[in-house]
Amino acid sequence: MDHNREESFRCEMISSNNNGFFISFEGVETSGKTTQADLLVSWLQVRGHRVVQTREPGGTSLGEAIRSLLLDMSDEQEMSHRAETLLFAAARAQLVQTMIRPALAAGHVVVCDRYVDSSVAYQSFGLGVPLSAVWDINKFSTEDLMPDLTFVLGRGADLKSSERRPPTDRIEAREERYYRRVRNGYLSLARRFPERIVVVDTLGGVRRTAGIIRRMVAARLKDRQSGS
Ligand code: TYD
Repeated sequence: MDHNREESFRCEMISSNNNGFFISFEGVETSGKTTQADLLVSWLQVRGHRVVQTREPGGTSLGEAIRSLLLDMSDEQEMSHRAETLLFAAARAQLVQTMIRPALAAGHVVVCDRYVDSSVAYQSFGLGVPLSAVWDINKFSTEDLMPDLTFVLGRGADLKSSERRPPTDRIEAREERYYRRVRNGYLSLARRFPERIVVVDTLGGVRRTAGIIRRMVAARLKDRQSGS
């Protein structure tokens, strides 16, 4: 299937969270997203925001159990691409229902390390699971909830990670060609959803990247307060 056809994104989802603000971080391994998510959470808390921080897959006890199924298995043959897609979506369904939606309804800022865009990049662009199926499964698992703002982090225009470290799990063990497709997936998503997704080049270092992210978040929270 041709993943570059922009029309394949026809199954887009709408953000529909009520009072809160939902931010996700995306990127390949060692892109620095977890460090940046932590820094943003501290910064928001110092400013008096109530923040819920979580990660995918995981964040709930069911999600953590699914996480070990997904990442700890050493043999690629033991998990089909469809099974992998559904397991990520199952962990996500639990997280959305028990943690993300209640936090948003209570007016919190939710900061999530990975969300639906990871499934589009890794399972659809990376593995070749049809894009429309990945959207449909995730529309169902999240009941159409998408972030208000997503940061895709990476080094340079092609979102390279700073290094390929020795693989620590089944997905990290995939070859470089796979990761090239994943990075292309993120870039296609960013082109398709420019209002939601901001690609941040991390080459300037941790502090500079954190500054860019803070300015963006501050502006969006301000817009939200003023109702625009
Ligand atoms: P993790 O240890 O959290 O890695 P990272 O620090 O890179 O986020 O492992 C999560 C792995 O699962 C990571 O390789 C990306 C992959 N993943 C998917 O393939 N699809 C998904 O929908 C999600 C949420 C993660």
